[in-house]
Amino acid sequence: SRRPVTVAVTGGAGQICYSLLFRIASGALLGPDVPVRLRVLEITPALGAAEGVAMELDDCAFPLLQSVDISDDAATAFDGASVAMLVGSRPRTKGMERGDLLEANGAIFTGQGRALAQSAADDLRVLVVGNPANTNCLIAMNNAAGVPAERFSAMTRLDHNRAVAQLAKKAGAPVADVERVAIWGNHSATQYPDLTHAVVGGRPALEVVDQPWVESDFIPTVQKRGAAIIEARGSSSAASAANAAIDHVRTWLTGTPEGGWTSMAVRSDGSYGVPEGLVSSFPVTTRDGSYEIVQGLDVDDFSRSRIDASVAELAEERDAVAGMGLLG
Ligand code: NAI
Repeated sequence: SRRPVTVAVTGGAGQICYSLLFRIASGALLGPDVPVRLRVLEITPALGAAEGVAMELDDCAFPLLQSVDISDDAATAFDGASVAMLVGSRPRTKGMERGDLLEANGAIFTGQGRALAQSAADDLRVLVVGNPANTNCLIAMNNAAGVPAERFSAMTRLDHNRAVAQLAKKAGAPVADVERVAIWGNHSATQYPDLTHAVVGGRPALEVVDQPWVESDFIPTVQKRGAAIIEARGSSSAASAANAAIDHVRTWLTGTPEGGWTSMAVRSDGSYGVPEGLVSSFPVTTRDGSYEIVQGLDVDDFSRSRIDASVAELAEERDAVAGMGLLG
């Protein structure tokens, strides 16, 4: 069998990890022939709860799981990590302003960026899930001296998967028939789920569904799906978020299908007028742990205004954290 791969995960006692860790350990992340060493970071008061999750991981007797190590020290938790999934973050609590949220998470992601640079493996790939995911990723990336910016990404795959599912349902087609859906911008309510290039069973999606549905149903449904899950379930999407995190990293490492793409929030190189350096979602192709932003897509006026609105929010968040000195 193959050489074991070390996967570091933060927020190990939280809701997403209660699904995510088990899927990683089962082989869903790296494939059925790759042994896994899990390294889990939690804050000190949650170490006991994380130990409980580790007990359950033991009790699954996963053949691929070689070890589970838990720590409240980031450099220790990230030691030797080839994949780091940064799930833990500071949630917004009552009375907290947006600036307070950015600052609290800024402290977390500056420290984790430095710790990744210090102790992770040379082939490190980073996925930021914890919100505000794009800006947390920007902070970690800017504080991880020596780690190439292309190794960092934030998660919009849940939004992407939600968009695929909504389109398939409306078209009465299997999800496997849907390709070339794109999420642009921020993982927030301003995100732009874009069907202008999407195809369903080889046909342009916009020949299968109509524009009024796209504008008044599809886009708001995808944008507000997180809130709808909280309303229905009484707690936030955790299993689907964990599933998207698995999909994101697996697609990054193994590649997008020929002619298809996925959505990832990555450092902008200025493509599509998104200011260079912002961590924005784009349609990307992937291969062997690298990605490329899909080039040459037509952006119509409607798409342009939606992308611009979300990117403006990202620029505001960047300016706020830069003003707090969090970008190094
Ligand atoms: P949760 O609150 O159940 O768990 C978060 C865990 O992170 C807690 O156990 C907490 O102790 C831990 N944590 C906090 N600060 C930490 C630090 N500095 N280091 C290590 N661990 C730390 O939250 P849940 O449901 O697991 O969600 C996690 C994050 O993912 C939230 O920020 C949520 O908003 C975000 N999210 C992002 C999505 C996306 O599409 N990008 C989708 C769904 C959730």
